[in-house]
Amino acid sequence: MTEFLKRRKQLMQQMGPNAIAILSAAPEVARNHDHMYMFRQNSDFHYLTGFNEPEAIMVLLPEHKEGEFILFNRVRDKTEEIWNGHRAGQKGACREFGADRAFPIQDFAKKLPELLKDRDTIYYAIDCDAQLNQTLINIIIELRGKIRSGAQSSFALIDIADILHEMRLFKSPTEIALLKKAGQITADAHIRAMQYCRPGLYEYELEAEITHEFIRQGARFHAYTPIIGSGANTCILHYVTNHQRIKKTDLVLVDAGAEYQYYAADVTRTFPANGRFSAEQRAVYDIVLEAQLAGIKAIRPGTAWNKIEEITVKIITQGLKDIGLLKGNLDSLIEKQAYLPFYMHRSGHWLGLDTHDAGVYKINHKWRPLKSGMVRTVEPGIYISANTPNVPKRWHHIGIRIEDDILVTKTGYEVLSDKAPKRAKDIESLMSR
Ligand code: GLY
Ligand code: MN
Ligand code: MN
Repeated sequence: MTEFLKRRKQLMQQMGPNAIAILSAAPEVARNHDHMYMFRQNSDFHYLTGFNEPEAIMVLLPEHKEGEFILFNRVRDKTEEIWNGHRAGQKGACREFGADRAFPIQDFAKKLPELLKDRDTIYYAIDCDAQLNQTLINIIIELRGKIRSGAQSSFALIDIADILHEMRLFKSPTEIALLKKAGQITADAHIRAMQYCRPGLYEYELEAEITHEFIRQGARFHAYTPIIGSGANTCILHYVTNHQRIKKTDLVLVDAGAEYQYYAADVTRTFPANGRFSAEQRAVYDIVLEAQLAGIKAIRPGTAWNKIEEITVKIITQGLKDIGLLKGNLDSLIEKQAYLPFYMHRSGHWLGLDTHDAGVYKINHKWRPLKSGMVRTVEPGIYISANTPNVPKRWHHIGIRIEDDILVTKTGYEVLSDKAPKRAKDIESLMSR
C-alpha cells in the first residue's frame, strides 16, 4: 500500500493543486454465455491503486480537504460474491486499498460536478474508456450551461500518460524484484522447453511445458500470447497458432514470457529441434548472438536508445555479408537498409507492467538516453523465409531471434533473464542431457 500511495503522491505533485485525475479500471472481461474470462486490471490503474476489480474509477484530487484519493467501485453483493468471489466494497476500498473515500460506481456521474469544483485541469486516459469519455464531456457541457451561476466552465484536458508513463518507465526496487522473478521463471520455462523438445512433437506441446513451468512457479499467466514456431514458422514474427509438427531438421523459435504479479518477462530462445545446429543454422545463430551480446554490452546510463539499434544493424549486416547473403560495401548496405528483408523489426522496447511497456522513446525529437531503473529488451533477429529474394535454398526457414530483459543499473546493466542458455554450445549440451 505504501508503494501505491507513494506513486499517487508523486503523480499529484506533478499535476499541481487545481487539477483532477480520473482513471477507470479495465472492463469486466466478456462473458461467453455463462463463462467469464479471467479479468486483468488495466496497468495504469493497477500502478496507482493495486485495486483488482473491474467497474471502478479512481479520482485523485491534490490538496482536497475531504480526501485526495477517491474510489468509485462496485457495491458488495451477496449473490455475486457466492458465485464470483469477494468484492472489496466501499469499506474495503478504504481499509484495504487506502482510499480516503469510496462511493458506489453508479454514483460517479452524479458526484462528478462536485468533484470538478475549483479544478481547471483534468488528467485522464483518452484511449481507455469510451463511456467515461462521454460522461466527462456530457458533464462539461452541462457545467457550461451553468456558467451564469458561476460554475467552472472550461477545463484543460490532459492525457495522463504524459506524467504517468514517465513514472512507470523508472522501476522501483519492488518492481525490479518482480521483474527479476518474472525473468527467472521465464528462463526456467525456456530451459524446460529445450530439454523436452524432440522432433515429432507439436509446437503446442512445447507451449504446454512452458505454461506448466510458469504456473508451477506462481506465474498464472503469459505476459503475451507465446510464439512457438518451428521450421518455416520461425520466420513469422508474431506466429501464435503453434500447431505445426516439429521436424528433425527444424529450428524452433520460442518467444514466451511469464507475467508475475502483473510484471512481464519477454524472452526468446531459438534452438535446433534435434539438439544440433546445422552448419547454416549455426552460422546465422552466431551472427544474431554476437549482435545481441554487443547490444547488451552497450547498455549503461547515457547510451542513447537508438545506439543498440545501430549496433545490432551493423553486426547483422556484416554477418549477412560474411555468409554471402548480402554483397557490397558495409556502410552503403546499412545506408540503404539492405538488412531489412532479414531483420525487419526494432531491437527492443520498454518492459514492465506491459510487455511493450509505457514510456516515450524520443524527447524533443531525439532518441532518449538510457537511465538507471529503466528496463528494456534487446532482441535482434535474422529471418530467412523461402520468399526472401536471392537466397539459396539451403538458408531457407532459418528464423532466429534471441531476446533478453535488461535492467539499466547505475554503472551498466543486469540481464534479468540470463539463466536461459544462449551460446550455441550451451544449448546443444543442455539438449543432449
Ligand atoms: N514478444 C513480443 C516481443 O518480443 O516484442
Ligand atoms: Mn520483445
Ligand atoms: Mn518477445
